[in-house]
Amino acid sequence: QKQILIDVDCGTDDAQAIMMALAAPSVKVLGITCVGGNTPLDNVCKNVLRVLKVCKRLDIPVFGGISTSILGDRITASDFHGVDGLGDVPDPDAPGLECLQKEHGIDALIRLATQHSGQVSLVATGPLTNLAMAVRLDPEFPNKLQSLYIMGGNMESRGNTTACGEFNFLSDPEAAYIVLNDFHCPTYIATWEHACRSKLSWEWYDKWVNMGTEKANFIKKIYAHSLKYTRTSEKEGKVIVGGCGFVSCDSYAMAAAIDSATVTSHIECAVSVELSGKYARGMMVLDLIDDLKKKNKAFVMDGCDIEKFKALMEASLK
Ligand code: BDR
Repeated sequence: QKQILIDVDCGTDDAQAIMMALAAPSVKVLGITCVGGNTPLDNVCKNVLRVLKVCKRLDIPVFGGISTSILGDRITASDFHGVDGLGDVPDPDAPGLECLQKEHGIDALIRLATQHSGQVSLVATGPLTNLAMAVRLDPEFPNKLQSLYIMGGNMESRGNTTACGEFNFLSDPEAAYIVLNDFHCPTYIATWEHACRSKLSWEWYDKWVNMGTEKANFIKKIYAHSLKYTRTSEKEGKVIVGGCGFVSCDSYAMAAAIDSATVTSHIECAVSVELSGKYARGMMVLDLIDDLKKKNKAFVMDGCDIEKFKALMEASLK
Protein backbone atom coordinates (compact mmCIF):
# COMPACT_ATOMS: atom_id res chain seq x y z
CA GLN A 1 0.00 0.00 0.00
CA LYS A 2 1.10 3.56 -0.75
CA GLN A 3 1.26 5.53 2.49
CA ILE A 4 -0.10 9.07 2.39
CA LEU A 5 -0.54 12.10 4.58
CA ILE A 6 -3.29 14.55 3.69
CA ASP A 7 -3.25 18.28 4.47
CA VAL A 8 -6.66 19.92 3.94
CA ASP A 9 -8.77 23.04 4.45
CA CYS A 10 -11.83 20.80 4.39
CA GLY A 11 -14.50 22.26 2.18
CA THR A 12 -16.69 20.12 -0.06
CA ASP A 13 -14.08 18.97 -2.60
CA ASP A 14 -11.51 18.24 0.15
CA ALA A 15 -14.17 16.01 1.74
CA GLN A 16 -14.59 14.22 -1.58
CA ALA A 17 -10.82 13.83 -1.96
CA ILE A 18 -10.49 12.32 1.53
CA MET A 19 -13.27 9.86 0.71
CA MET A 20 -11.48 8.92 -2.49
CA ALA A 21 -8.30 8.10 -0.57
CA LEU A 22 -10.16 6.08 2.05
CA ALA A 23 -11.87 4.00 -0.63
CA ALA A 24 -8.66 3.17 -2.50
CA PRO A 25 -7.37 -0.29 -1.52
CA SER A 26 -3.87 0.67 -2.72
CA VAL A 27 -3.61 3.55 -0.24
CA LYS A 28 -3.11 3.80 3.52
CA VAL A 29 -3.87 7.19 5.09
CA LEU A 30 -1.46 7.78 8.00
CA GLY A 31 -3.00 11.02 9.19
CA ILE A 32 -4.84 14.18 8.20
CA THR A 33 -3.62 17.66 9.10
CA CYS A 34 -5.85 20.72 8.93
CA VAL A 35 -5.20 24.28 7.80
CA GLY A 36 -7.54 27.29 7.77
CA GLY A 37 -8.73 28.06 4.25
CA ASN A 38 -12.12 27.37 2.74
CA THR A 39 -13.48 27.87 6.24
CA PRO A 40 -11.84 28.78 9.59
CA LEU A 41 -9.58 26.15 11.18
CA ASP A 42 -12.07 24.84 13.79
CA ASN A 43 -14.62 24.16 11.05
CA VAL A 44 -11.93 22.45 8.96
CA CYS A 45 -11.10 20.10 11.84
CA LYS A 46 -14.77 19.35 12.54
CA ASN A 47 -15.41 18.72 8.85
CA VAL A 48 -12.59 16.21 8.58
CA LEU A 49 -13.91 14.35 11.64
CA ARG A 50 -17.38 14.39 10.10
CA VAL A 51 -16.08 12.87 6.86
CA LEU A 52 -14.22 10.18 8.80
CA LYS A 53 -17.38 9.40 10.73
CA VAL A 54 -19.38 8.93 7.51
CA CYS A 55 -16.61 6.62 6.25
CA LYS A 56 -16.39 4.82 9.61
CA ARG A 57 -12.70 5.68 9.81
CA LEU A 58 -12.43 7.71 13.00
CA ASP A 59 -9.35 5.60 13.75
CA ILE A 60 -7.33 7.91 11.44
CA PRO A 61 -5.59 10.63 13.51
CA VAL A 62 -6.59 14.24 12.75
CA PHE A 63 -4.38 17.18 13.75
CA GLY A 64 -5.06 20.92 13.95
CA GLY A 65 -2.59 23.16 12.13
CA ILE A 66 -2.21 26.83 11.28
CA SER A 67 -5.29 29.05 11.07
CA THR A 68 -4.00 32.05 9.10
CA SER A 69 -1.57 32.76 6.30
CA ILE A 70 2.11 33.40 7.06
CA LEU A 71 1.46 37.15 6.87
CA GLY A 72 -1.51 36.76 9.22
CA ASP A 73 -4.45 37.31 6.92
CA ARG A 74 -6.82 34.70 5.57
CA ILE A 75 -9.64 34.63 3.06
CA THR A 76 -12.37 32.00 3.13
CA ALA A 77 -14.55 30.54 0.39
CA SER A 78 -17.78 30.47 2.38
CA ASP A 79 -19.82 31.81 -0.56
CA PHE A 80 -19.08 28.61 -2.41
CA HIS A 81 -18.57 25.97 0.32
CA GLY A 82 -21.00 27.41 2.91
CA VAL A 83 -20.12 29.18 6.17
CA ASP A 84 -19.28 25.85 7.84
CA GLY A 85 -17.35 24.70 4.76
CA LEU A 86 -19.66 21.76 4.12
CA GLY A 87 -22.73 23.39 2.63
CA ASP A 88 -24.33 24.43 5.95
CA VAL A 89 -26.22 21.21 6.58
CA PRO A 90 -25.38 20.59 10.25
CA ASP A 91 -25.04 17.11 11.69
CA PRO A 92 -26.07 17.17 15.38
CA ASP A 93 -24.15 13.91 16.00
CA ALA A 94 -20.88 15.12 14.45
CA PRO A 95 -17.74 14.36 16.47
CA GLY A 96 -16.40 17.34 18.45
CA LEU A 97 -12.97 18.93 18.56
CA GLU A 98 -12.10 16.76 21.58
CA CYS A 99 -11.53 13.97 19.02
CA LEU A 100 -8.53 15.85 17.59
CA GLN A 101 -5.02 14.68 18.45
CA LYS A 102 -3.20 16.90 20.96
CA GLU A 103 -0.08 17.08 18.78
CA HIS A 104 0.17 20.09 16.46
CA GLY A 105 -0.32 19.33 12.76
CA ILE A 106 3.13 20.60 11.78
CA ASP A 107 4.84 18.42 14.40
CA ALA A 108 2.73 15.49 13.20
CA LEU A 109 3.71 16.04 9.55
CA ILE A 110 7.40 16.07 10.48
CA ARG A 111 7.12 13.10 12.85
CA LEU A 112 5.18 10.91 10.43
CA ALA A 113 7.44 11.82 7.50
CA THR A 114 10.47 10.98 9.65
CA GLN A 115 9.01 7.66 10.82
CA HIS A 116 8.12 6.66 7.25
CA SER A 117 11.01 8.43 5.55
CA GLY A 118 11.10 7.82 1.79
CA GLN A 119 7.88 5.83 1.94
CA VAL A 120 5.20 8.42 2.38
CA SER A 121 3.58 10.90 0.00
CA LEU A 122 1.80 14.09 0.94
CA VAL A 123 -1.37 15.36 -0.70
CA ALA A 124 -2.12 19.04 -0.02
CA THR A 125 -5.50 20.43 -1.02
CA GLY A 126 -5.57 23.75 0.85
CA PRO A 127 -3.34 26.80 1.38
CA LEU A 128 0.24 25.59 1.82
CA THR A 129 0.86 27.21 5.24
CA ASN A 130 1.41 23.99 7.22
CA LEU A 131 3.88 22.70 4.62
CA ALA A 132 5.85 25.95 4.53
CA MET A 133 6.11 26.01 8.32
CA ALA A 134 7.15 22.34 8.37
CA VAL A 135 10.11 22.95 6.04
CA ARG A 136 11.20 25.93 8.13
CA LEU A 137 11.08 23.78 11.29
CA ASP A 138 12.75 20.81 9.64
CA PRO A 139 14.61 21.63 6.40
CA GLU A 140 14.93 17.87 5.77
CA PHE A 141 11.14 17.39 5.82
CA PRO A 142 10.68 17.47 2.00
CA ASN A 143 13.51 14.98 1.49
CA LYS A 144 11.63 12.47 3.61
CA LEU A 145 8.66 12.55 1.25
CA GLN A 146 8.38 10.19 -1.68
CA SER A 147 6.30 12.78 -3.53
CA LEU A 148 4.09 15.79 -3.04
CA TYR A 149 0.72 16.35 -4.75
CA ILE A 150 -0.75 19.84 -4.66
CA MET A 151 -4.09 21.21 -5.75
CA GLY A 152 -3.43 24.86 -6.37
CA GLY A 153 -2.19 27.55 -8.69
CA ASN A 154 -2.91 28.14 -12.32
CA MET A 155 -1.03 27.52 -15.54
CA GLU A 156 -2.63 30.11 -17.82
CA SER A 157 -3.06 32.93 -15.30
CA ARG A 158 -6.78 32.15 -14.89
CA GLY A 159 -7.98 32.85 -11.39
CA ASN A 160 -11.11 31.81 -9.52
CA THR A 161 -10.79 34.24 -6.61
CA THR A 162 -9.13 37.21 -8.31
CA ALA A 163 -8.48 37.61 -12.04
CA CYS A 164 -5.13 35.81 -11.74
CA GLY A 165 -5.40 34.20 -8.31
CA GLU A 166 -6.45 30.62 -7.63
CA PHE A 167 -7.88 30.25 -4.09
CA ASN A 168 -5.24 28.04 -2.42
CA PHE A 169 -2.21 29.96 -3.70
CA LEU A 170 -3.84 33.35 -3.25
CA SER A 171 -4.76 32.47 0.35
CA ASP A 172 -1.09 32.25 1.26
CA PRO A 173 1.23 33.21 -1.61
CA GLU A 174 4.31 33.30 0.65
CA ALA A 175 3.65 29.72 1.76
CA ALA A 176 3.20 28.58 -1.85
CA TYR A 177 6.44 30.35 -2.77
CA ILE A 178 8.36 28.60 0.02
CA VAL A 179 6.97 25.19 -0.89
CA LEU A 180 7.66 25.56 -4.62
CA ASN A 181 11.21 26.68 -3.84
CA ASP A 182 12.22 24.41 -0.99
CA PHE A 183 10.49 21.11 -1.70
CA HIS A 184 12.88 19.16 -3.89
CA CYS A 185 10.89 15.92 -3.78
CA PRO A 186 8.94 15.03 -6.96
CA THR A 187 6.08 17.54 -6.94
CA TYR A 188 2.87 17.16 -8.96
CA ILE A 189 0.51 20.09 -9.32
CA ALA A 190 -3.18 19.93 -10.24
CA THR A 191 -3.95 23.51 -11.23
CA TRP A 192 -7.30 25.25 -11.47
CA GLU A 193 -7.27 24.99 -15.26
CA HIS A 194 -6.45 21.27 -15.08
CA ALA A 195 -9.57 20.74 -12.97
CA CYS A 196 -11.72 22.93 -15.24
CA ARG A 197 -10.59 21.14 -18.39
CA SER A 198 -11.33 17.76 -16.84
CA LYS A 199 -14.78 18.54 -15.48
CA LEU A 200 -17.64 16.05 -15.46
CA SER A 201 -21.15 16.34 -16.88
CA TRP A 202 -24.22 16.99 -14.79
CA GLU A 203 -25.73 13.74 -16.14
CA TRP A 204 -22.79 11.87 -14.62
CA TYR A 205 -23.10 13.90 -11.39
CA ASP A 206 -26.79 13.01 -10.99
CA LYS A 207 -26.10 9.30 -11.30
CA TRP A 208 -23.11 9.58 -8.98
CA VAL A 209 -24.84 11.32 -6.06
CA ASN A 210 -27.96 9.22 -6.42
CA MET A 211 -26.17 5.92 -5.87
CA GLY A 212 -28.20 5.49 -2.67
CA THR A 213 -25.31 4.79 -0.31
CA GLU A 214 -24.74 6.70 2.95
CA LYS A 215 -21.61 8.28 1.46
CA ALA A 216 -23.45 9.39 -1.69
CA ASN A 217 -26.26 10.92 0.38
CA PHE A 218 -23.66 12.82 2.41
CA ILE A 219 -21.93 14.19 -0.69
CA LYS A 220 -25.26 15.13 -2.28
CA LYS A 221 -26.22 17.05 0.87
CA ILE A 222 -22.94 18.95 1.27
CA TYR A 223 -22.64 19.85 -2.43
CA ALA A 224 -26.19 21.25 -2.72
CA HIS A 225 -25.08 24.73 -1.56
CA SER A 226 -22.28 25.09 -4.09
CA LEU A 227 -24.51 23.98 -6.95
CA LYS A 228 -26.15 27.41 -6.70
CA TYR A 229 -22.87 28.82 -8.02
CA THR A 230 -22.49 26.29 -10.76
CA ARG A 231 -25.52 24.39 -11.92
CA THR A 232 -28.22 26.98 -11.19
CA SER A 233 -26.14 29.85 -12.62
CA GLU A 234 -25.49 27.72 -15.67
CA LYS A 235 -29.24 27.22 -16.19
CA GLU A 236 -29.78 30.96 -15.78
CA GLY A 237 -27.18 31.63 -18.45
CA LYS A 238 -24.83 33.45 -16.03
CA VAL A 239 -21.06 33.40 -16.45
CA ILE A 240 -19.54 30.63 -14.30
CA VAL A 241 -15.97 31.02 -13.11
CA GLY A 242 -14.97 27.44 -13.95
CA GLY A 243 -17.19 27.05 -17.01
CA CYS A 244 -20.10 24.60 -17.28
CA GLY A 245 -20.17 21.18 -15.60
CA PHE A 246 -19.14 19.66 -12.27
CA VAL A 247 -15.62 20.35 -10.98
CA SER A 248 -14.24 18.74 -7.82
CA CYS A 249 -10.79 20.40 -7.83
CA ASP A 250 -9.06 18.60 -4.96
CA SER A 251 -10.00 15.18 -6.28
CA TYR A 252 -7.61 15.60 -9.25
CA ALA A 253 -4.59 15.88 -6.97
CA MET A 254 -5.79 12.93 -4.88
CA ALA A 255 -6.51 10.81 -7.95
CA ALA A 256 -2.97 11.42 -9.22
CA ALA A 257 -1.56 10.28 -5.86
CA ILE A 258 -3.67 7.12 -5.91
CA ASP A 259 -3.17 6.21 -9.57
CA SER A 260 -0.58 8.06 -11.65
CA ALA A 261 -2.35 6.80 -14.80
CA THR A 262 -5.19 9.29 -14.16
CA VAL A 263 -2.75 11.92 -15.49
CA THR A 264 -1.96 11.46 -19.17
CA SER A 265 0.62 14.25 -19.56
CA HIS A 266 2.63 16.76 -17.53
CA ILE A 267 4.52 19.96 -18.20
CA GLU A 268 7.88 19.55 -16.46
CA CYS A 269 9.28 22.95 -15.50
CA ALA A 270 10.31 25.16 -12.62
CA VAL A 271 7.38 26.94 -10.99
CA SER A 272 7.00 29.85 -8.64
CA VAL A 273 4.40 32.29 -7.38
CA GLU A 274 3.99 36.03 -7.90
CA LEU A 275 4.17 37.74 -4.50
CA SER A 276 3.36 41.29 -5.51
CA GLY A 277 1.94 43.01 -8.57
CA LYS A 278 -1.19 45.05 -8.98
CA TYR A 279 -3.31 42.20 -10.34
CA ALA A 280 -1.18 39.08 -10.15
CA ARG A 281 -0.41 38.39 -6.46
CA GLY A 282 -0.78 34.65 -5.89
CA MET A 283 -0.56 33.74 -9.59
CA MET A 284 1.54 30.67 -10.38
CA VAL A 285 4.46 31.27 -12.71
CA LEU A 286 5.59 28.52 -15.10
CA ASP A 287 9.18 29.01 -16.16
CA LEU A 288 9.33 27.47 -19.62
CA ILE A 289 12.57 29.27 -20.62
CA ASP A 290 14.70 28.48 -17.54
CA ASP A 291 14.72 32.11 -16.53
CA LEU A 292 14.57 31.32 -12.81
CA LYS A 293 17.57 28.96 -12.98
CA LYS A 294 15.90 26.63 -10.49
CA LYS A 295 17.18 23.09 -10.10
CA ASN A 296 13.91 21.60 -8.93
CA LYS A 297 11.29 21.16 -11.61
CA ALA A 298 7.65 20.37 -10.90
CA PHE A 299 5.24 18.24 -12.90
CA VAL A 300 2.27 20.40 -13.80
CA MET A 301 -0.60 18.09 -14.69
CA ASP A 302 -1.76 18.68 -18.23
CA GLY A 303 -4.06 15.86 -19.28
CA CYS A 304 -6.52 13.65 -17.42
CA ASP A 305 -7.80 10.14 -18.16
CA ILE A 306 -11.42 10.97 -17.44
CA GLU A 307 -12.61 7.34 -17.37
CA LYS A 308 -9.99 6.38 -14.75
CA PHE A 309 -10.80 9.53 -12.78
CA LYS A 310 -14.52 8.78 -12.85
CA ALA A 311 -13.86 5.24 -11.65
CA LEU A 312 -12.06 6.59 -8.55
CA MET A 313 -14.87 9.11 -7.93
CA GLU A 314 -17.44 6.34 -8.19
CA ALA A 315 -15.51 3.98 -5.91
CA SER A 316 -15.30 6.70 -3.26
CA LEU A 317 -19.07 6.71 -2.67
CA LYS A 318 -19.72 2.96 -2.71
C1 BDR B 1 -9.39 25.24 -4.48
O1 BDR B 1 -9.97 26.25 -3.67
C2 BDR B 1 -10.86 25.68 -2.77
O2 BDR B 1 -12.05 26.41 -2.66
C3 BDR B 1 -11.10 24.27 -3.19
O3 BDR B 1 -11.29 23.48 -2.05
C4 BDR B 1 -9.85 23.90 -3.94
O4 BDR B 1 -8.87 23.41 -3.08
C5 BDR B 1 -9.75 25.51 -5.91
O5 BDR B 1 -9.21 26.72 -6.30
